[in-house]
Amino acid sequence: MGTGCRVQPDRTLRNGHLSDSKGNVEQVKYEKLSFVPSTNRYGAHRTVPNKTATTDQLLDQLKKLAEMPLNQATSLPSSVYVSEDFLRLEEQEIFYKQWICAGRADVIPNPGDYLTHHLAYQPVTVMRQKSGEIKAYSNVCLHRMMRLLENRGHCEKIVCPYHGWTYDIEGKLIGAPHMHENPHFKASDYVLPPIRSEIWEGWIYLTLDQDIPPVKEQLSSLQEIVRNYRMAGYQHVVQQDYEWVGNWKQLVENFIEGYHLPVTHSTTVGEHLTVGETRFPENPHHPIFTYQTFTKAYGARIGRAHENNTTLTQEQRNTSMLIGVFPTHLFVLAPDHLWYISIQPKGTGQIYIRYGSAIAPEVLAASQNRELLINEVSDILDQVNEEDRIIIEGLYKGANAPLSKPGLLCWLEQQNHEFIQYLAKHLCKS
Ligand code: FES
Ligand SMILES: [Fe+2]
Repeated sequence: MGTGCRVQPDRTLRNGHLSDSKGNVEQVKYEKLSFVPSTNRYGAHRTVPNKTATTDQLLDQLKKLAEMPLNQATSLPSSVYVSEDFLRLEEQEIFYKQWICAGRADVIPNPGDYLTHHLAYQPVTVMRQKSGEIKAYSNVCLHRMMRLLENRGHCEKIVCPYHGWTYDIEGKLIGAPHMHENPHFKASDYVLPPIRSEIWEGWIYLTLDQDIPPVKEQLSSLQEIVRNYRMAGYQHVVQQDYEWVGNWKQLVENFIEGYHLPVTHSTTVGEHLTVGETRFPENPHHPIFTYQTFTKAYGARIGRAHENNTTLTQEQRNTSMLIGVFPTHLFVLAPDHLWYISIQPKGTGQIYIRYGSAIAPEVLAASQNRELLINEVSDILDQVNEEDRIIIEGLYKGANAPLSKPGLLCWLEQQNHEFIQYLAKHLCKS
């Protein structure tokens, strides 16, 4: 029971009733237990559900969970999903400091093609340059700080929708209406602040941190594991952005375990899955990524190699990998396609989701009807997404419930425990 709980120590809570030492029973008024203010070690004032612990207590619990063996560890305490204070800490220590995936690089193949993204509260433009390189910079105007571009598209120059300051695709200011009348104004002083970016295996990664090691270095051992799939050559077919109800960690946890697949997705991707054959790496404790492999039985509509694929081993030909690059880049790499989500919090109870899929080139090349193929893959994945959306919404309701508490993890949730260890490493500094 967390600090600040109004349940008196001489009374116990059972099945929604309080009973005292004399056996008198009283129905708990949950609405009265709702919100109390408190402060944390960072001095921040906050409002959190009364049943939650302080941030310091949550961090202590997180640390303990991370140190436990998997068969003794539970999932995270419910308060980490609903605490505003905890989210502030995640933004500072994770979303401003780690690599965040912005999608596939072939979404923007030509100079002037761009996509937008954000790193917590920092809007970002990712632009294909004339050199063919991809460059990222702040998507905020240098005049009165208007957001510049939205969604994705193509442009020859970036024109601010507010007063018309205009930038080239490298981010340099090339025009500003009426500003030449100000002798102190010099256009060359204005360049959109660059944001560190990197392409790895066809993925675009962004970070605001100048010091963390490159993605390529951090994922070098994963690169060896996925080499035969040649995913850099998979061709983008879908990219969409969504907002769901839920906490971002619940979606990470949902994506990286296959335990729920035969149940939640019983008529879609779970149908041909033999969950008992899930395999984890022998040495799973890599600090930034996690994965498991699973196989697709004969008859699965997607998830098996095309006959023209000559690089996968016999075993890999029907083996998919479920990969999490922490904190929030999650994807299934199958012999014939991949699909991914990259997520960020929008408050404690909403999630920004970038979702997309790509198809192996030999599958597309052999297709008689490319559009039909893309639609078929998209339809299946849309159904899977919808099944997950309902789950995440239910999980968030659960996390807010006064009586909710976490249970033991299953061996199939090994990656969830690795995620707990990742969070502990970045959030528990002392
Ligand atoms: S804010 Fe962009 S031109 Fe004024
Ligand atoms: Fe799922």
